[in-house]
Amino acid sequence: MVPSPLPSNFPLPNVRYFASVGSTNDEAMAWAAEGAPDMALVVADEQTAGRGRFQRRWLTPAGTALAFSLVVRPRPAESHDLGVFSPWGALGVARALESLGLRPEVKWPNDVLLDRRKVCGILVESSWLGDTAQVVVMGIGVNVARAAAPPDSETLFPATSVEAVLGRLPDRWALLVAITGEMQALREHLGTPAFYGEWESRLAFRGERVRLSSGIGRGEDRVGILKGLGPGGALRLLLDNGRETLVQVGEVHLRPE
Ligand code: BTN
Repeated sequence: MVPSPLPSNFPLPNVRYFASVGSTNDEAMAWAAEGAPDMALVVADEQTAGRGRFQRRWLTPAGTALAFSLVVRPRPAESHDLGVFSPWGALGVARALESLGLRPEVKWPNDVLLDRRKVCGILVESSWLGDTAQVVVMGIGVNVARAAAPPDSETLFPATSVEAVLGRLPDRWALLVAITGEMQALREHLGTPAFYGEWESRLAFRGERVRLSSGIGRGEDRVGILKGLGPGGALRLLLDNGRETLVQVGEVHLRPE
């Protein structure tokens, strides 16, 4: 650990900052095992073994991105809302980007897009004791500078950066303050109709034809019109046969058709 560049008025009291680390999710999980409190934050300037969903690599070159992991100790009332933790992060990021004058969208369930390109990914990992989640680690990566966004040849879904869309490089740490502040505010509404309403209103590709494919190479693709959210945050898809189906949050990729 090195001295943190975070502002002295940073809203979260428990922060570990690393100039370089393997994965902030791993650091956060290790800290949680040692007793990290709720809302403890691990932040890194560079990740050398950053991980994405579907066992993919997530690159975080030094000086270009936000890579952080929040340790969440679910409150008893939140134990039924674990499925909305990743959209919780996405909404926090979306609100913070909106405060910069941008128009973010959420690609179900939780990627954040700018100009229909991915600017933020979220990896939620948890540790369980029996059927109770003891710790949830919310790992969030935001491409802030242009150099953070991988070229199209290296991604399944095209990427962008805040800098590319905003036309200037925003202050990374101010953006982190905004994201974590929004997440603190949103936490009080997890799983409420207002929360689902905001998630749904921010959904990308609503009313458009999309393809949902299994991330593990098994199962049939499903193609249809993205209608919105169903119970628990499932995706409502209108199939070509006129029937509506619900796709549960899980190992699926969503793309425009
Ligand atoms: C994805 O879209 O595939 C999720 C990417 C999540 C990346 C973040 S960066 C901070 C945290 N540490 C990691 O190793 N991964 C997450």
